Amino acid sequence: IKKIGVLTSGGDAPGMNAAVRAVVRAGLAEGMEVYGIYDGYYGMYHDHIEKLNRQNVSDIINKGGTVLGSARFPEFKEPSVREEAIKNLKKHGIEAIVVVGGDGSYMGAMKLSEMGFPCIGLPGTIDNDISGTDYTIGFMTALDTVVDAIDRLRDTSSSHNRISIVEIMGRHCGDLTLWASIAGGSEYIIVPEVDFDEEELLRQVAEGEAKGKKHAIIAITEHVADVNAMAKRIEEQTGRETRATILGHIQRGGAPNAWDRVQASRMGGYAVELLLKGESARCVGIQKGQLVHHDIIDCLTNMRRAFRQDLYDLSNRLF
Ligand code: F6P
Repeated sequence: IKKIGVLTSGGDAPGMNAAVRAVVRAGLAEGMEVYGIYDGYYGMYHDHIEKLNRQNVSDIINKGGTVLGSARFPEFKEPSVREEAIKNLKKHGIEAIVVVGGDGSYMGAMKLSEMGFPCIGLPGTIDNDISGTDYTIGFMTALDTVVDAIDRLRDTSSSHNRISIVEIMGRHCGDLTLWASIAGGSEYIIVPEVDFDEEELLRQVAEGEAKGKKHAIIAITEHVADVNAMAKRIEEQTGRETRATILGHIQRGGAPNAWDRVQASRMGGYAVELLLKGESARCVGIQKGQLVHHDIIDCLTNMRRAFRQDLYDLSNRLF
């Protein structure tokens, strides 16, 4: 393989730049030409493709977001759109690509591989919801951001003796909420993986108050409930002021932490090694500290990430 491409796709995540840099530098070190595909699959279809050199990826390892840009491009589901995109890649002589993104991006990579175009996927999303890896690129940085937000909410909630509900991203995965709750010492956790009973929550809040807690922080994953309506109900039932905070896209921005930079660099370098070995339709992960790769179809269909019940139980024990 002499020419490869790299793109970032779906929701951006801190550390994507470190992954792009690693793919570019590892590729160049192998004597390859490396092309940046801008704005994800949208840019592949619209031929936003440029050859990159070492300097193009200088000073990006510490930057949040993705210098390649990202997009959600549902039209890529159409075979004719993918055919056009492959034509663009071939026009530049690109023989294989590395896709950094979440499972929607993996789906695109799987489809391209099925059409005979070699692809390797790297898990880039703050949600930590990709099978075949213990951590996704961006998760640990987003976790730091959420914990910082919880710390701040704790200060003001304590001062005002309030209940705070904090809504955390994750799509349908509770990892960010769960890990942030443990690190931030929040009192109550509501995640999509565990059934949630508001009556029980109210009982626990009352129990916390009886124990002398000056605040109550309820961490909840997005899409589980309308947090503003929930705050109103809780305030009515408890007689305590209750505020909801939706952290939103704040969680996606910011400089990647050292962990995300290191893991993204490892995975980017590994993707190039896999392409050199002629691998395709594989996705890279880190499991038990080791670099691994899996069949991308398996990753999307058969493999299931286990919910960290141990962490959930621990958080309840520490209440
Ligand atoms: O997948 C990352 C993520 O930030 C999710 O946590 C969230 O549900 C979604 O993307 C938001 O997407 P958008 O930025 O397109 O609104």
